Amino acid sequence: MPDQNEQEWALQRRLDDVFAKVGEKYGDLTGRVEVKLRPGVSFDEVGGLAAAKGMLQGYAYALTNPELYHRWGISPPRGVLLYGPPGTGKTMLARALATTSGAIFYHMKLMNLTSKFGSNTGELLQEILNSAVTEDKAVLFMDEVEALSLDHLLVPPQAREASARLVAALCEKFDAFNESARMLVIASTSRTDAIDPSLVAPGRLDHLIEIPLPDTPAQQQILAILQRRAEREAGQTLFEPLDEDKILPMIGGMSGADIAEIVRRALESKVRRAAAGQEATAVTTADMLLAIDSHKGVRGVVEKIRYGQYL
Ligand SMILES: Nc1ncnc2c1ncn2[C@@H]1O[C@H](COP(=O)(O)OP(=O)(O)OP(=O)(O)O)[C@@H](O)[C@H]1O
Ligand SMILES: [Mg+2]
Repeated sequence: MPDQNEQEWALQRRLDDVFAKVGEKYGDLTGRVEVKLRPGVSFDEVGGLAAAKGMLQGYAYALTNPELYHRWGISPPRGVLLYGPPGTGKTMLARALATTSGAIFYHMKLMNLTSKFGSNTGELLQEILNSAVTEDKAVLFMDEVEALSLDHLLVPPQAREASARLVAALCEKFDAFNESARMLVIASTSRTDAIDPSLVAPGRLDHLIEIPLPDTPAQQQILAILQRRAEREAGQTLFEPLDEDKILPMIGGMSGADIAEIVRRALESKVRRAAAGQEATAVTTADMLLAIDSHKGVRGVVEKIRYGQYL
């Protein structure tokens, strides 16, 4: 039994070959597709989202034990669409699914891929799928799948035509999947309005899971998870017991990514103090409230830029 490093190395070599072949035809893929043998995120690290986690854990059987589906007279799922606001944990969930099922994780960043390869992205994805299907178990994560609409690249009539070709190439592949392939495609989007309906037809991305913003109990869990993660990495206590009655009302409607950013800001303020030779004590509720304020300020500016209020 080869050890993990050897396995990873062999896989990387195989992928390099595939990418080199594809690269000769289209160009470099670096940063646009990433492959991980062990994506290293577990479902326990995802706060809230109990329903979504439950469904995805069920789909893990499509990879580990597809016979279970056949025994009940149905085919295992092939395609899942995670949809919901930005920063709610969609990427984490896809990684966690690959981790629990021991599958190789292919992260395809479709905004980057389409920006470089335009309508050729369809053929490229076909090549990657061809390679993934030969692996024991694979999760193919199509991140920002709305980019397949190509409306960030082309004017509407051209985008529609080129996108239709691209999506057709992908669907052709979906329809030709071997029943016994231990492969699951997970797509993710925060823009359901920009998804081609043919992608969600039966046998394709036909398992839809909403990933909503966290409610207060979910935010509480996320906050605790993020604190534990930072403390584990630092190997020491970093937080005083926090007064959630003060903190939670200030972060209503915020995503997990917002909460992660607030925690990072609070810790960063300690780094600055320590760097300036001042005493840096554990993060308190007051530190967190300051970090929330400063994060809200930055969010406000981002929104103004996005909606053009400075124009
Ligand atoms: N439910 C959650 N539990 C724990 N952490 C979370 C959760 N949601 C978001 N986070 C934090 O936010 C970061 C970003 O999350 P993630 O990349 O999974 O979001 P996403 O839904 O894929 O966002 P996008 O739509 O922008 O791609 C994570 O690395 C994590 O730190
Ligand atoms: Mg994501």
